[in-house]
Amino acid sequence: MKKSPLFLFLILLLQVSYAGNIPKPLYKDSKAPVESRVKDLVSRMNLEEKILQLNQYIFGENDNVNNIGETVKTMPSGIGSLIFFGSDPAVRNQIQKYAMEKSRLGIPILFGNDVIHGFRTVYPISIGQACSWNPDLVSKACTMAAKETKLSGIDWTFSPMIDVARDARWGRVSEGYGEDPYANAVFGVASVKGYQGNKLSDPYSIAACLKHYVGYGESEGGRDYHYSDISRQSLWETYMVPYEACVKAGAATLMSAFNDISGVPASANHYTLTEILKKRWKHDGFVVSDWDAVSQLINQGVAADRKEAALKAFKAGVEMDMKDNVYLENLPTLLAEKKITMAEIDEAVGRILRVKFRLGLFDHPYTPVVAESERYLQPESKAIAGKLAAESMVLLKNNGKTLPLSSSVKQIALIGPMINDKINILGSWAHHGKIENVETISEGLRSEFGNSCVLNYAKGCDLEGNDESGFDEAVAVAQKSDVVIVCLGEKREWSGENASRSTLALPAIQEKLVQTLKNTGKPVVLILSNGRPLELVRLEPLADAIVEIWQPGIAGGSALAGILSGRINPSGRLPITFPLTTGQIPIYYNMRQSSRPGLGIYQDIPTEPLYWFGYGLSYTTFSYGTPKLSATKIKKTEKLIAEVEVNNTGLVSGAETVFWYISDPACSISRPMKELKYFEKKEIASGAKTVYRFEINPMRDLSYTDANGKRFLEAGDYYVIVNNQRVKFKIEE
Ligand code: BGC
Repeated sequence: MKKSPLFLFLILLLQVSYAGNIPKPLYKDSKAPVESRVKDLVSRMNLEEKILQLNQYIFGENDNVNNIGETVKTMPSGIGSLIFFGSDPAVRNQIQKYAMEKSRLGIPILFGNDVIHGFRTVYPISIGQACSWNPDLVSKACTMAAKETKLSGIDWTFSPMIDVARDARWGRVSEGYGEDPYANAVFGVASVKGYQGNKLSDPYSIAACLKHYVGYGESEGGRDYHYSDISRQSLWETYMVPYEACVKAGAATLMSAFNDISGVPASANHYTLTEILKKRWKHDGFVVSDWDAVSQLINQGVAADRKEAALKAFKAGVEMDMKDNVYLENLPTLLAEKKITMAEIDEAVGRILRVKFRLGLFDHPYTPVVAESERYLQPESKAIAGKLAAESMVLLKNNGKTLPLSSSVKQIALIGPMINDKINILGSWAHHGKIENVETISEGLRSEFGNSCVLNYAKGCDLEGNDESGFDEAVAVAQKSDVVIVCLGEKREWSGENASRSTLALPAIQEKLVQTLKNTGKPVVLILSNGRPLELVRLEPLADAIVEIWQPGIAGGSALAGILSGRINPSGRLPITFPLTTGQIPIYYNMRQSSRPGLGIYQDIPTEPLYWFGYGLSYTTFSYGTPKLSATKIKKTEKLIAEVEVNNTGLVSGAETVFWYISDPACSISRPMKELKYFEKKEIASGAKTVYRFEINPMRDLSYTDANGKRFLEAGDYYVIVNNQRVKFKIEE
């Protein structure tokens, strides 16, 4: 039937007026609830758009030598995420504009990067941060790091690393918080809260990423990327503990690990990724694979090809494929072959979009561009870097009160390859740190002592090699000085990723230098800057004092100088045991009891490590009273209060960290000899005393987990242990 011109005109009019009133799609409405926005957007997306969201590309040059991916020259406007190696917000905005304007639905890109211990303001490495036992300070450092990160165009950091690590041959011990599950949980939560702030959509909040989920610290023999044999029991009692705590604290994302957990790689592990993380813990953010971890399922022997690798990782619960393009290439075919469903794709896409909505990326896709001078190294972040560096340093030995240096010291020898170092003390993963912002140890000492002492410098030797030609000069410098400060350590690439070592000892040349200096008869103060516990069996007897400074970041020089002068009283305590020799590994405080205590030990080396977890000295002395309990028996539902009085019996003010452990000597599943349940650090003035208090909640603090992660609490005898004093109490039904 032929339509009249009037009819056609009316239709046109109707269309025009309708178009003029087209309502904004729901997902673009910043006031709509996130869930409705996610649902609305997913319903509008085609398959290609959905698959792109599940992929991450890289942009810029990676300075992680283990992962040199091809620099991306072109990218689809609909890509889900980019690892952004740059720091220029204008560049990010340009890319984001491309995504917002050229992609059909205007979906913002999520920009991620590894901001591990600071961005331009570099804080101590994580293992050092844990020595502070000051989670509030760690949290503040993360808040500062988040701000610098966000202003550099990055919304998401691949941090914190909360892999419990008990084998210091593994280079990545530097990146986490040590050997204890509870400590990793506490510091992990502190950093998640620091990064994510009150709300992810706050202007300076960034999303955290818990890594490497899970069990990566257990790589056999400390060889990075290797197999990890983890029973379900250890998985639950050790490795899952920090993850569960950080997921509960609201961590937006997780990264699936490289390791193979007893035959099922972490990146293809339906149990950990879906049954536990998504179903039991109800995590509603997403999981990104580690770099190439999806295609590496082929190396790990569970996938025949990239297609099968994509299938296994996706089905297990990895939503985003880091840089690998395996999802991009294979998910459409897997869908066509009905091996995966559209509902599964929608679920995965929804999780990624949810994080983007929560971050406020749809409403504020661009980063404000401010000058570098306003975004980096602000006084507050530098102050935190200094405080955290000071609190991360651990006084390991101090014979005859060698430290603090007395006022009679007039000439100080500064010797060793780390004295003027600017790069290694930044530690690994400090991509955006700049050496011009680093205060060297020498600079710190010169400003602390320059007016009162003469400082005589000699390098002595390099960090490695056999060149002893600098020894004579070092000896001459030592001879004319009252005390020798010798600064040794590790290159930053000796720890971190793919940096396993068969021995924890420093290279022989460094040990020989100390021996040579010791022969001068001068007091020797050993300063150690390293990323892992060291084997100090030969060095320790040569030193009168030892300070472990880890890799302290930009502000290590003045922090150390303050400790040497006594301006700062050291308060760091180790979060990881220092074995006497490498052969003692594994050795950690929360081991189980042997069936014949005292027997079955190595015949050729002592049983005790050099320094246990929790060890660290002060310039003052603390004496502990007898711990008191509010009752000797309680019911499972009742609380118990434990208290201990601590006196500062020395001459200077100092901070003491009290570690509260519990022990359950008879349980249906055997338990570690002691387990840390709480810690608290307080400053106590000289001559003052204070009471430390631990409120024991039996279900939280005394219960144990079975191999399915189910917590149970048994009646019977328990001990609370503080400063090696054990007090018994009973739990009744
Ligand atoms: C590391 C991760 C890191 C990722 C991206 C991997 O090789 O294992 O910790 O986040 O690279 O840089």
